[in-house]
Amino acid sequence: MSRITLSVIKADVGGWVGHTSVHPQLISKAEQVLSESSLLKDFHVAYVGDDVNLIMTHELGVDSTEIHQLAWDTFLACTEVAKELKLYGAGQDLLSDAFSGNVKGMGPGVAEMEFEERKAEPVIVFMADKTEPGAWNLPLYKMFADPFNTIGLVIDPKMHRGFVMEVHDLIEHKSVKFSLPEELYDLLVFIGAPGRYAVKAVYSKTTGDIAAACSTQRLNLMAGRYVGKDDPVCIVRCQSGLPAVGEAVEPFANPHLVAGWMRGSHVGPLMPVSVEDSHPTRFDGPPRVIALGFQIANGKLIGPRDLFADVSYDRARQKALEIADYLRRLGPFEPHRLPLEDMEYTTMPEVMERLKERFKPIED
Ligand code: 13P
Ligand code: 13P
Ligand code: MG
Ligand code: MG
Repeated sequence: MSRITLSVIKADVGGWVGHTSVHPQLISKAEQVLSESSLLKDFHVAYVGDDVNLIMTHELGVDSTEIHQLAWDTFLACTEVAKELKLYGAGQDLLSDAFSGNVKGMGPGVAEMEFEERKAEPVIVFMADKTEPGAWNLPLYKMFADPFNTIGLVIDPKMHRGFVMEVHDLIEHKSVKFSLPEELYDLLVFIGAPGRYAVKAVYSKTTGDIAAACSTQRLNLMAGRYVGKDDPVCIVRCQSGLPAVGEAVEPFANPHLVAGWMRGSHVGPLMPVSVEDSHPTRFDGPPRVIALGFQIANGKLIGPRDLFADVSYDRARQKALEIADYLRRLGPFEPHRLPLEDMEYTTMPEVMERLKERFKPIED
């Protein structure tokens, strides 16, 4: 039985129009570059909003220089097309001119996992636009730690021992693991703050197998300035001791609030949509999430199934739109607008400098 690596590497290399979508020529260019490579077992090029997502299977393991080089070259080729079409922010997420062996730290987001392909191997690739990696914290908590979401934690003997959740501190660059359910309350102290702490991976305590992996790259921390939002991806393996497909998509039926809407500086509901509807338009949003399901068969991606293109998510979308209406009425006020320290850019220093003489001490 051979081991398979599933790599999802994504970047925004130019928006059509503004930050709303990916031009079809970028998708066909990416498909052309990947189909010319002999490294891959299979691939699927997806988009959510203005982000191109390369979903690839191979046998080269995680952090493979060759696979990362292939993804980088694909994004460069797409950038050339984006420049010809003068798309918005062509090459936006490619922060460097020279590839250095691994795309981590260079702008693109990366989620990868290596595993032994099971008798049946259902996986879901979740992809979001207009938000940050911590957006997966709440749904992953529900999938892997909340019996009100995942009944398998209670009644499946292969899930009953629980899971280990690996969390990254994105500011201090540290990693910590929590054993669930015993350490639930400790875990929540951290992942309840999704701007700083993000779930990186989840492992089964029954088999030790990897169950989920997320991109945790923060663009502004890498670039030292605002270039665009991180727009993260998350891979979840399903069934047979892992959450059922239905348990993995269930958390998105209640659109939770995430950071990243308009100029990366607003809070909005994460709306589950079909690929066809993944065009954040109103106020460059609201933030979107898509879920593509695949059965993996000898490294081949059998799919995708567009899992949120289902009437059972209509009410979640309706609820998200109502939340969006409500939040938009707050205009430039928190908590719609992010707190000062979390905004991706601000005029505060400039305005403060201009008005500084007008600030007088309060006498009492
Ligand atoms: P501009 O200042 O280029 O209009 O950018 C605003 C924006 O869309 C943030 O990414
Ligand atoms: P993206 O991060 O999707 O490019 O969006 C940037 C933005 O500022 C939208 O308002
Ligand atoms: Mg963009
Ligand atoms: Mg985007």
